[in-house]
Amino acid sequence: MLKKKIEYGIDFLEQHLAIFKCPKCHQSFKEIKNNSAICQNNHHFDLSKKGTLHFPNHHMTSDYDKEMLTSRRKIIQKGLYQPIEDQILILLSELSPDSYVVDMGCGEGSFVNRLKSQEKNPLAYLGFDLSKEGVQLASDFSKDGFFFIGDVTNMPFEDNSIDILLNIFSPSHYEEMNRVLKPGGMMIKVIPEAMYLKEMRELFYHDNPEKQSYSNENVYEKFKKDVSLVKEERLTYAFPVSKEDYEDVLMMSPIHWGSTEKAKIYAKEHPFEELTIDVKILIGKKS
Ligand SMILES: C[S@@+](CC[C@H](N)C(=O)[O-])C[C@H]1O[C@@H](n2cnc3c(N)ncnc32)[C@H](O)[C@@H]1O
Ligand SMILES: [Zn+2]
Repeated sequence: MLKKKIEYGIDFLEQHLAIFKCPKCHQSFKEIKNNSAICQNNHHFDLSKKGTLHFPNHHMTSDYDKEMLTSRRKIIQKGLYQPIEDQILILLSELSPDSYVVDMGCGEGSFVNRLKSQEKNPLAYLGFDLSKEGVQLASDFSKDGFFFIGDVTNMPFEDNSIDILLNIFSPSHYEEMNRVLKPGGMMIKVIPEAMYLKEMRELFYHDNPEKQSYSNENVYEKFKKDVSLVKEERLTYAFPVSKEDYEDVLMMSPIHWGSTEKAKIYAKEHPFEELTIDVKILIGKKS
């Protein structure tokens, strides 16, 4: 019989319970019992049928919904970010096999799935996101890693427990990231550069030229201020877009959120055949 998602979740937690700590009282977990993770102060976190946990203790929401994340998954799985994955894989290949890799703000989980299927070492992967729908989708990859609903500002991990933090187009909290990383641990942050998705920006904001440009200056400066930067690399390439994928490509990023209805129609009616990916990969180490 095929292993169920919840069984993958329980197995992972039983094997790796020592890296977790309760986000409510910040004590360690003592056991997994009746499909619940229980901390030293008896806070219970119940596993869902999909083998995921819900950690935030107050109501938080994300605008990233199932429809958008499903479109995003289709295009990522066609190799949209393969050159970025290749760079990350080089870094992961240097890790020892008992290392932990955490994808912070993992969305629908494709990075965990694709990295796991291409890497050499049997690393342990975790992914979390504030979006419940994202984590539900990510549970399709429960054989590749453990997924939970969590917040980058209060990660349910012990101090000095994680080897690599992936932070791909997602928000950061550098103090918290430094806390959970092992000494010598690294953060890999991917941020958009000026030309990132420019074809889409030009269409959705053809009636509002001010919004066509993007600068990562603030994000970049904050990283350099708060993190000890080891290396940075800019990657720029064109991703071919077929007619059948066009609508998913338009939906896969938040760019359309602020555009007018008219501009959305305009974008659909003016398909492009290549999409520019322009990013910076920032590698920082625990300071
Ligand atoms: C642009 S998406 C990137 C998702 C994924 N890394 C990818 O590239 O497909 C940003 C993600 O950050 C998540 N997010 C926003 N605030 C968060 C927070 N405080 N904690 C965890 N995730 C958060 C959103 O729900 C969303 O899935
Ligand atoms: Zn607790």
